[in-house]
Amino acid sequence: MRRTKVTVVGAGNVGASCAQRIAERDYADVVLVDIVEGLPQGKALDMNQSGPVVGYEPNLIGTNTYEDTSGSDIFIITSGLARQPGMSRDDLLQKNKQIVTGVAREVADRSPDAILIVVTNPLDAMCHVASDATKFPRQRVVGMAGILDSARFRTFLSWELGVSAKDVNGFVLGGHGDTMVPCVSYTTVAGVPVEQRISADRLEEIVQRTRDGGAEIVKLLEKGSAYYAPSAAVAEMVDAIVLDQKRILPCAALCQGEYGIEGLFVGVPIRLGAEGIEEIVEIELNAREREELGKSADTVRELVGTLAEI
Ligand code: LAC
Repeated sequence: MRRTKVTVVGAGNVGASCAQRIAERDYADVVLVDIVEGLPQGKALDMNQSGPVVGYEPNLIGTNTYEDTSGSDIFIITSGLARQPGMSRDDLLQKNKQIVTGVAREVADRSPDAILIVVTNPLDAMCHVASDATKFPRQRVVGMAGILDSARFRTFLSWELGVSAKDVNGFVLGGHGDTMVPCVSYTTVAGVPVEQRISADRLEEIVQRTRDGGAEIVKLLEKGSAYYAPSAAVAEMVDAIVLDQKRILPCAALCQGEYGIEGLFVGVPIRLGAEGIEEIVEIELNAREREELGKSADTVRELVGTLAEI
């Protein structure tokens, strides 16, 4: 039996951290690809050398070409530019559209059965780009953002209450941006609705901090953005697929009528297993959450419209 093969494109902080976390799981061979010569090779070599100490097979390859990626079961796209000073949102959109399209074509050619996990920002728009370029069915194109946003929400709530984050459950839906929708009504602490434990005003502040979670880190780091929590979120998705866990996780998925959203990638709860997106799970939202999710979908629709023009 051959081991699962996972390719990570982009050997920057997010991509390299994904490769490391997945290698440490020890259930897959990992290929790390980047256009910068030496970077994926150096990082892969370094990670391989931690195998004997941490206890996993040193089966990482670092490469600048896609030949080594053929037959991957899972393909993770992290490559793309971060917004530079003076660069407009549309400039970023255009550059990353080119990058993600190029990568997605390689996936479609060499790994036609792969499940694609998109991480590049702007996330929801880049899912559309990857989906258009690969023509993969919707089961096999999924975006990582909801787990990250939810993890931030859960962390802040656990600090607020002084309880383990493991006992805080909740999820964030919608686009990965200012309009994301933390579903407070479904957020619980050891099964108890969080609204019974934290005042509405304070909850509102925590929701806002969650929405600004990525920006808060960018501001602190000055150069670059988050990667520890993003890579942890990707690894959780890879676990769900490789181990066929059928986890219910908030991820960007192509809605075709679910939640009243047609033909758009938006963060929704999905059942994630060996087949990829096995189901978009429709839960009942309260009026406010429904409205917010609709608005968030409108923002994604606008961005996708811009995408078509550039
Ligand atoms: C974040 C960016 C990287 O949320 O999307 O951290």
